[in-house]
Amino acid sequence: MGLKGDKITIRGGIPLIGRIELKGAKNLVTKAMVASLLGESPSILKNVPNISDVRIVRELLAVHGVKVTDGPEPGELLLDPVDVESAHFAAIDAHAGSSRIPILFCGPLLHRLGEAFIPDLGGCRIGDRPIDYHLEVLRKFGAVVDKQPNGIRMSAPNGLHGAKVSLPYPSVGATEQVLLTAVRAEGITELKGAAIEPEIMDLINILQKMGAIITVDTDRVIRIEGVERLEGFNHRALFDRNEAASWAAAALATDGDIFVGGARQSEMLTFLNVFRKVGGAFEIHDDGIRFYHPGGDLKPVVIETDVHPGFMTDWQQPLVIALTHAHGVSIVHETVYEQRFGFVDALVEMGATIQIHRECLGGHPCRFGQRNFNHSAVIAGPTKLHGADIEVPDLRGGFSHLIAALTAEGTSTVSNVGIISRGYENFITKLRLLGADFDLEG
Ligand code: EPZ
Repeated sequence: MGLKGDKITIRGGIPLIGRIELKGAKNLVTKAMVASLLGESPSILKNVPNISDVRIVRELLAVHGVKVTDGPEPGELLLDPVDVESAHFAAIDAHAGSSRIPILFCGPLLHRLGEAFIPDLGGCRIGDRPIDYHLEVLRKFGAVVDKQPNGIRMSAPNGLHGAKVSLPYPSVGATEQVLLTAVRAEGITELKGAAIEPEIMDLINILQKMGAIITVDTDRVIRIEGVERLEGFNHRALFDRNEAASWAAAALATDGDIFVGGARQSEMLTFLNVFRKVGGAFEIHDDGIRFYHPGGDLKPVVIETDVHPGFMTDWQQPLVIALTHAHGVSIVHETVYEQRFGFVDALVEMGATIQIHRECLGGHPCRFGQRNFNHSAVIAGPTKLHGADIEVPDLRGGFSHLIAALTAEGTSTVSNVGIISRGYENFITKLRLLGADFDLEG
């Protein structure tokens, strides 16, 4: 879990002020580690955060024979895949339910070993999170998929071959599945409907360094020419824009001023626009972005989450706390995950006025509108939050709960905070650096 205790008692009302440093993006680093399996020689990955999702992937690589060691620089990993081997069922099964990354091991393991076994997947409970696109993609490349009681066994008796793939929705994971499988498949792969998140572009950078041939065309089309051999890579991971947005939201909600070292404008354009519309201010520097509350009332906004270059789903939860302070009615229409408002019950308990609706509010109709999912939130402000005992439901919802407690009048106890260490490196130390007033249990 990464924390001694699993509970934090926060005395709210103190602005967060100071500087924190980002490391590499969780949603790139974990995939880059999987990509190392494809190389015939060792890889070096820099800027790796010390978070539990990275530790899980490190263990999963180790059970497949990849030697993972710390490099000389803090946050540097050396990944040596030369002795890749099939893992014992028990060793893989020990990781069942802990992460969604194992599904991305399929292509690389099929290339290396001709078979793969994937345990039941974990990850945040923010929707059904099926893997149908992944399995369909793998079948198109020639994999034989055998669903078993404890996971999925795959084989590729005739090898993997380039395919024409068209995704029904630009899924990040399924796009990565195609990339990690196609780079060494025989022939040409054409992917239509690809996700084009910056983390995916950085994964493409890595694969190109390894020897892959990948073309990113307009209109979400990616073409990959399979090659026979890939080498290891040496790469510094792209910064974590989700962590940056989370601290920015914390600065705004607590009337604070946080310099987020390592944050970059170009990957955060959409967030910065919304941040400004709500009434936040920012300054772009060469080495990071300063986010602060410039004084004055916060303003309501209408947000529709979307795939890149839209407003990321991972940004809405932390920002909702600032919206409870805004003067007027805000709407957040969640179009990526059907159940990403589990975190608002605790906010309502703390005094927020938030209603969740099944209809697509404030924007375009989305694929959840006809399916009875509570996926639009109406937030009426300004409301003052007061302290409460709350429990973290998922990673981003958890960070949002921390912000709520930091802004609330009185004392709050937030339990299950271990989940937050899945994606936020040293968040306790960072909170201390920024002047938060809290005690950790344990
Ligand atoms: C990645 O999840 C991230 N996780 C998520 O971050 C992020 O919110 C998401 O992309 C969107 O940006 C990692 O990178 C580890 P998807 P992923 O496939 O790849 C549906 C965080 O808090 N879908 O783009 O799992 C799916 O149900 C996490 O850091 C299918 O229907 O997301 C969802 O509605 C949470 N079938 C939509 O697509 C499939 O086979 C988008 O999911 C796959 C996906």
